[in-house]
Amino acid sequence: MTQVIAVAGKGGTGKTTLSALIIRYLKKKGCGPILAVDADPNANLADALGIQVPKSLGTTREDFFESKMNLPPGMTKETYIEMKLHETLVESSGLDLMVMGRPEGPGCYCYVNNILRRHIDLLAKNYPFVVMDNEAGMEHLSRRTTQGVDHLLFLSDYSIKGIRTVGKIRELIAELKLSVKEKHLIIDRAPQELTPGFREEIARQGLDFLGVIPVDDLIFEYDLTGKPLLNLPDNSPAVRVVGEMMAKMIKTGNG
Ligand SMILES: Nc1ncnc2c1ncn2[C@@H]1O[C@H](COP(=O)(O)OP(=O)(O)OP(=O)(O)O)[C@@H](O)[C@H]1O
Ligand SMILES: [Mg+2]
Repeated sequence: MTQVIAVAGKGGTGKTTLSALIIRYLKKKGCGPILAVDADPNANLADALGIQVPKSLGTTREDFFESKMNLPPGMTKETYIEMKLHETLVESSGLDLMVMGRPEGPGCYCYVNNILRRHIDLLAKNYPFVVMDNEAGMEHLSRRTTQGVDHLLFLSDYSIKGIRTVGKIRELIAELKLSVKEKHLIIDRAPQELTPGFREEIARQGLDFLGVIPVDDLIFEYDLTGKPLLNLPDNSPAVRVVGEMMAKMIKTGNG
Protein backbone atom coordinates (compact mmCIF):
# COMPACT_ATOMS: atom_id res chain seq x y z
CA MET A 1 0.00 0.00 0.00
CA THR A 2 1.32 3.38 -1.01
CA GLN A 3 1.41 6.09 1.63
CA VAL A 4 1.16 9.58 0.19
CA ILE A 5 2.72 12.35 2.26
CA ALA A 6 2.14 15.93 1.11
CA VAL A 7 3.46 19.20 2.48
CA ALA A 8 1.46 22.44 2.39
CA GLY A 9 1.88 25.95 3.75
CA LYS A 10 2.42 29.55 2.72
CA GLY A 11 5.43 30.67 0.72
CA GLY A 12 8.86 30.27 2.27
CA THR A 13 7.71 28.32 5.33
CA GLY A 14 10.17 25.52 4.61
CA LYS A 15 8.04 23.07 2.56
CA THR A 16 10.83 22.03 0.20
CA THR A 17 13.26 21.65 3.10
CA LEU A 18 10.78 19.50 5.04
CA SER A 19 10.01 17.37 1.96
CA ALA A 20 13.73 16.73 1.47
CA LEU A 21 14.17 15.84 5.15
CA ILE A 22 11.23 13.41 5.02
CA ILE A 23 12.71 11.78 1.91
CA ARG A 24 16.09 11.58 3.65
CA TYR A 25 14.45 9.87 6.62
CA LEU A 26 12.54 7.34 4.50
CA LYS A 27 15.62 6.56 2.43
CA LYS A 28 17.76 6.01 5.52
CA LYS A 29 15.09 3.73 6.97
CA GLY A 30 15.21 1.66 3.79
CA CYS A 31 11.61 2.47 2.93
CA GLY A 32 12.30 2.99 -0.73
CA PRO A 33 11.79 3.21 -3.51
CA ILE A 34 10.30 6.62 -2.86
CA LEU A 35 8.57 8.73 -5.46
CA ALA A 36 9.28 12.42 -4.87
CA VAL A 37 6.88 14.75 -6.64
CA ASP A 38 7.75 18.39 -7.04
CA ALA A 39 4.35 19.97 -7.56
CA ASP A 40 5.64 23.55 -7.36
CA PRO A 41 5.98 25.37 -10.71
CA ASN A 42 9.07 27.09 -9.32
CA ALA A 43 10.47 23.66 -8.81
CA ASN A 44 13.45 23.36 -6.51
CA LEU A 45 13.00 20.03 -4.75
CA ALA A 46 15.40 18.52 -7.29
CA ASP A 47 18.15 20.87 -6.07
CA ALA A 48 17.43 20.00 -2.45
CA LEU A 49 17.76 16.31 -3.40
CA GLY A 50 20.79 16.84 -5.62
CA ILE A 51 19.03 15.37 -8.68
CA GLN A 52 19.26 16.74 -12.22
CA VAL A 53 15.91 16.92 -13.95
CA PRO A 54 15.91 16.64 -17.73
CA LYS A 55 12.27 17.53 -18.35
CA SER A 56 9.22 18.51 -16.36
CA LEU A 57 5.76 17.12 -16.85
CA GLY A 58 4.58 20.62 -17.85
CA THR A 59 7.06 20.66 -20.74
CA THR A 60 6.00 17.15 -21.74
CA ARG A 61 2.38 18.29 -21.78
CA GLU A 62 3.24 21.20 -24.06
CA ASP A 63 5.25 18.85 -26.31
CA PHE A 64 2.17 16.69 -26.61
CA PHE A 65 0.14 19.65 -27.82
CA GLU A 66 2.75 20.54 -30.38
CA SER A 67 3.23 17.00 -31.66
CA LYS A 68 -0.25 15.50 -31.32
CA MET A 69 -0.96 16.04 -34.98
CA ASN A 70 1.90 13.75 -35.99
CA LEU A 71 2.15 10.93 -33.50
CA PRO A 72 4.55 8.08 -34.38
CA PRO A 73 2.73 5.61 -36.69
CA GLY A 74 0.55 3.10 -34.89
CA MET A 75 0.74 4.89 -31.55
CA THR A 76 -2.35 6.05 -29.70
CA LYS A 77 -2.41 9.39 -27.92
CA GLU A 78 -2.70 7.60 -24.59
CA THR A 79 0.33 5.37 -25.20
CA TYR A 80 2.28 8.40 -26.36
CA ILE A 81 1.44 10.41 -23.23
CA GLU A 82 2.27 7.42 -21.03
CA MET A 83 5.64 7.01 -22.74
CA LYS A 84 6.39 10.71 -22.32
CA LEU A 85 5.38 10.56 -18.67
CA HIS A 86 7.94 7.83 -18.05
CA GLU A 87 10.59 9.95 -19.79
CA THR A 88 10.07 12.68 -17.18
CA LEU A 89 10.77 10.29 -14.32
CA VAL A 90 14.31 10.66 -12.99
CA GLU A 91 15.45 7.45 -11.37
CA SER A 92 18.18 7.24 -8.76
CA SER A 93 19.03 4.76 -6.05
CA GLY A 94 15.91 4.21 -3.91
CA LEU A 95 14.44 7.50 -5.07
CA ASP A 96 12.67 8.63 -8.23
CA LEU A 97 11.66 12.20 -8.92
CA MET A 98 8.91 13.70 -10.99
CA VAL A 99 8.77 17.44 -11.53
CA MET A 100 5.35 18.80 -12.46
CA GLY A 101 6.79 22.06 -13.77
CA ARG A 102 4.89 24.95 -15.21
CA PRO A 103 1.13 25.04 -15.05
CA GLU A 104 -0.84 24.68 -18.25
CA GLY A 105 -1.28 27.63 -20.56
CA PRO A 106 -4.59 28.69 -22.09
CA GLY A 107 -6.51 25.94 -23.86
CA CYS A 108 -8.32 22.78 -22.90
CA TYR A 109 -6.06 20.47 -21.02
CA CYS A 110 -8.74 18.24 -19.55
CA TYR A 111 -8.07 15.37 -21.92
CA VAL A 112 -4.31 15.24 -21.37
CA ASN A 113 -4.65 15.98 -17.65
CA ASN A 114 -7.09 13.11 -17.19
CA ILE A 115 -4.72 10.70 -18.88
CA LEU A 116 -1.78 12.03 -16.87
CA ARG A 117 -3.68 11.79 -13.60
CA ARG A 118 -4.60 8.19 -14.31
CA HIS A 119 -1.03 7.24 -15.16
CA ILE A 120 0.48 9.11 -12.23
CA ASP A 121 -1.90 7.20 -9.95
CA LEU A 122 -0.84 3.92 -11.55
CA LEU A 123 2.81 4.90 -11.27
CA ALA A 124 2.45 5.87 -7.60
CA LYS A 125 1.18 2.38 -6.79
CA ASN A 126 4.71 1.06 -7.46
CA TYR A 127 6.11 2.95 -4.50
CA PRO A 128 5.59 2.39 -0.78
CA PHE A 129 5.96 6.16 -0.25
CA VAL A 130 5.13 9.20 -2.34
CA VAL A 131 6.31 12.56 -0.98
CA MET A 132 4.84 15.70 -2.56
CA ASP A 133 6.29 19.16 -2.21
CA ASN A 134 3.54 21.62 -3.05
CA GLU A 135 3.32 25.20 -4.17
CA ALA A 136 2.23 27.77 -1.59
CA GLY A 137 -1.17 28.46 -3.16
CA MET A 138 -2.20 24.81 -3.52
CA GLU A 139 -3.65 25.60 -6.95
CA HIS A 140 -2.96 22.12 -8.20
CA LEU A 141 -5.06 20.77 -5.34
CA SER A 142 -7.94 22.93 -6.49
CA ARG A 143 -7.48 21.54 -9.99
CA ARG A 144 -7.65 18.12 -8.37
CA THR A 145 -4.53 16.79 -9.94
CA THR A 146 -3.91 15.06 -6.64
CA GLN A 147 -6.12 12.29 -5.39
CA GLY A 148 -5.85 10.75 -1.98
CA VAL A 149 -3.32 11.98 0.57
CA ASP A 150 -2.59 9.87 3.63
CA HIS A 151 -0.66 12.48 5.61
CA LEU A 152 -1.02 16.16 4.87
CA LEU A 153 1.57 18.17 6.73
CA PHE A 154 0.66 21.80 7.24
CA LEU A 155 3.77 23.85 7.76
CA SER A 156 3.86 27.30 9.30
CA ASP A 157 6.52 29.71 10.37
CA TYR A 158 6.44 31.16 13.86
CA SER A 159 3.85 33.82 13.07
CA ILE A 160 0.14 34.25 13.63
CA LYS A 161 -0.24 35.05 9.94
CA GLY A 162 1.43 31.77 9.01
CA ILE A 163 -0.79 29.69 11.23
CA ARG A 164 -3.94 31.46 10.00
CA THR A 165 -2.93 30.65 6.44
CA VAL A 166 -2.91 27.02 7.55
CA GLY A 167 -6.55 27.52 8.56
CA LYS A 168 -7.40 28.92 5.11
CA ILE A 169 -5.73 26.01 3.28
CA ARG A 170 -7.65 23.61 5.52
CA GLU A 171 -10.92 25.28 4.57
CA LEU A 172 -10.03 25.07 0.89
CA ILE A 173 -9.29 21.37 1.22
CA ALA A 174 -12.60 20.80 3.02
CA GLU A 175 -14.53 22.71 0.33
CA LEU A 176 -12.90 20.68 -2.42
CA LYS A 177 -13.73 17.47 -0.56
CA LEU A 178 -10.20 16.28 -1.12
CA SER A 179 -9.48 12.95 0.38
CA VAL A 180 -6.99 13.48 3.21
CA LYS A 181 -6.70 10.81 5.87
CA GLU A 182 -4.62 12.60 8.49
CA LYS A 183 -3.72 16.26 8.92
CA HIS A 184 -0.73 17.35 10.94
CA LEU A 185 0.85 20.66 11.86
CA ILE A 186 4.55 21.50 12.07
CA ILE A 187 6.14 24.85 12.92
CA ASP A 188 9.47 25.60 11.26
CA ARG A 189 12.21 27.80 12.61
CA ALA A 190 10.73 28.48 16.03
CA PRO A 191 12.10 28.13 19.55
CA GLN A 192 11.03 24.99 21.44
CA GLU A 193 9.13 27.18 23.93
CA LEU A 194 6.22 28.73 22.04
CA THR A 195 4.27 31.65 23.52
CA PRO A 196 0.91 30.78 25.12
CA GLY A 197 -0.89 32.92 22.48
CA PHE A 198 0.72 30.97 19.68
CA ARG A 199 -0.11 27.67 21.37
CA GLU A 200 -3.76 28.75 21.55
CA GLU A 201 -3.69 29.50 17.84
CA ILE A 202 -2.26 26.03 17.22
CA ALA A 203 -4.98 24.41 19.32
CA ARG A 204 -7.63 26.36 17.38
CA GLN A 205 -6.55 24.59 14.18
CA GLY A 206 -7.57 21.25 15.67
CA LEU A 207 -4.69 19.50 13.89
CA ASP A 208 -2.33 16.86 15.19
CA PHE A 209 0.60 19.04 16.29
CA LEU A 210 3.85 17.21 15.55
CA GLY A 211 6.19 19.86 16.95
CA VAL A 212 8.79 22.45 16.04
CA ILE A 213 11.73 22.20 13.65
CA PRO A 214 14.55 24.33 15.06
CA VAL A 215 16.66 26.76 13.05
CA ASP A 216 19.47 24.65 11.70
CA ASP A 217 22.61 26.47 10.58
CA LEU A 218 23.62 23.52 8.40
CA ILE A 219 20.46 23.94 6.33
CA PHE A 220 21.39 27.58 5.68
CA GLU A 221 24.90 26.52 4.79
CA TYR A 222 23.81 23.69 2.46
CA ASP A 223 21.32 26.02 0.79
CA LEU A 224 23.96 28.69 0.19
CA THR A 225 26.56 26.29 -1.12
CA GLY A 226 24.08 24.23 -3.19
CA LYS A 227 24.69 21.00 -1.30
CA PRO A 228 21.84 18.45 -1.34
CA LEU A 229 19.96 18.19 1.96
CA LEU A 230 20.03 14.40 1.61
CA ASN A 231 23.69 14.65 2.61
CA LEU A 232 23.01 16.36 5.95
CA PRO A 233 24.60 14.50 8.86
CA ASP A 234 22.42 12.44 11.21
CA ASN A 235 23.15 14.79 14.10
CA SER A 236 21.87 17.90 12.34
CA PRO A 237 19.15 19.29 14.68
CA ALA A 238 16.46 19.52 11.97
CA VAL A 239 17.24 15.99 10.72
CA ARG A 240 16.86 14.62 14.25
CA VAL A 241 13.58 16.38 14.92
CA VAL A 242 12.03 15.45 11.56
CA GLY A 243 13.09 11.85 12.21
CA GLU A 244 11.22 11.86 15.54
CA MET A 245 8.16 13.38 13.90
CA MET A 246 8.14 10.81 11.11
CA ALA A 247 8.58 7.94 13.55
CA LYS A 248 5.46 9.20 15.37
CA MET A 249 3.52 9.73 12.19
CA ILE A 250 4.12 6.69 10.07
CA LYS A 251 4.71 3.03 10.37
CA THR A 252 7.69 2.16 8.19
CA GLY A 253 7.82 -1.52 9.07
CA ASN A 254 11.52 -1.06 9.78
CA GLY A 255 11.35 0.04 13.38
N1 LIG B 1 14.83 24.70 9.94
C1 LIG B 1 15.51 25.51 9.13
N2 LIG B 1 16.72 26.01 9.50
C2 LIG B 1 17.40 26.83 8.69
N3 LIG B 1 16.99 27.24 7.48
C3 LIG B 1 15.80 26.79 7.04
C4 LIG B 1 15.00 25.89 7.84
N4 LIG B 1 13.87 25.62 7.13
C5 LIG B 1 13.96 26.30 5.98
N5 LIG B 1 15.11 27.01 5.91
C6 LIG B 1 15.56 27.89 4.82
O1 LIG B 1 14.47 28.78 4.55
C7 LIG B 1 14.37 29.03 3.16
C8 LIG B 1 12.96 28.68 2.68
O2 LIG B 1 12.77 27.30 2.82
P1 LIG B 1 12.06 26.43 1.68
O3 LIG B 1 12.60 26.75 0.34
O4 LIG B 1 12.12 25.02 2.15
O5 LIG B 1 10.58 27.00 1.80
P2 LIG B 1 9.33 26.74 0.85
O6 LIG B 1 8.13 26.74 1.72
O7 LIG B 1 9.57 25.51 0.04
O8 LIG B 1 9.36 28.01 -0.06
P3 LIG B 1 8.50 28.27 -1.41
O9 LIG B 1 7.10 28.57 -0.94
O10 LIG B 1 9.19 29.43 -2.02
O11 LIG B 1 8.59 27.01 -2.22
C9 LIG B 1 15.46 28.22 2.48
O12 LIG B 1 16.54 29.06 2.23
C10 LIG B 1 15.81 27.16 3.52
O13 LIG B 1 17.16 26.77 3.41
MG1 LIG C 1 9.44 25.20 -2.05
